[in-house]
Amino acid sequence: MTSKLIAPSVLAADFANLQRDVEMINKSDADWFHIDIMDGVFVPNISFGMPVLRDIVKHATKTIDVHLMIVDPDRYIKVFADLGSTILTVHYEACTHLHRTLQAIKAEGMQAGVAINPHTNVSVLEDVINDIDLVCIMSVNPGFGGQSFIEHTYKKVKHLKDIIVRNNANTLIEIDGGVTDKNAHQLVAAGADVLVAGSYVFKSEDPIKTIKGLKEIIA
Ligand code: DX5
Ligand code: ZN
Repeated sequence: MTSKLIAPSVLAADFANLQRDVEMINKSDADWFHIDIMDGVFVPNISFGMPVLRDIVKHATKTIDVHLMIVDPDRYIKVFADLGSTILTVHYEACTHLHRTLQAIKAEGMQAGVAINPHTNVSVLEDVINDIDLVCIMSVNPGFGGQSFIEHTYKKVKHLKDIIVRNNANTLIEIDGGVTDKNAHQLVAAGADVLVAGSYVFKSEDPIKTIKGLKEIIA
């Protein structure tokens, strides 16, 4: 059994104090940096791009988990590899030739992730599950932090876990959106490996303590 991981979403950080917030994550019990890249086309919001990621990577001492919410992600695979991404996650809904995209991500030395929107059934990933290092199940509609968790997610996690086990795959299950102390335990019990948490961490009074609390819940 691998240990369960927490990935704070930098989207909820204070961008005017980004170095401070990156160092907070370095110091904390968090495992990964979750980085949300939005293009204003695939999702109705624009977050930040390459120059900001470059500066985050300069200070970050943990795994860089990049979640691309962009159309035509193939155009930017090399760029994100060069910037220092450890994991590059593309959206199932944005990839016509998903298998090819996954191979291209791995060819650049990164781990390959696939994110699915709330309306997408996990069964569509069965034929490529052995090629995927991480599936990111969106538990809110992508585009914004601070939304509330969609309860149907638990069922999706169990279904995906079953597909992974049946295919003898090593794929990690990540949950993204509305994660708090209220759903963390049940998500992990259903089969989740990585919990992304944005607002719950950064809007709390003591983010280091909040991360520690989440780690204790999922231990
Ligand atoms: C949503 C992003 C999430 C977001 C999560 O489109 O992919 O990573 O930052 O934020 P919270 O935890 O606030 O829902
Ligand atoms: Zn995300």
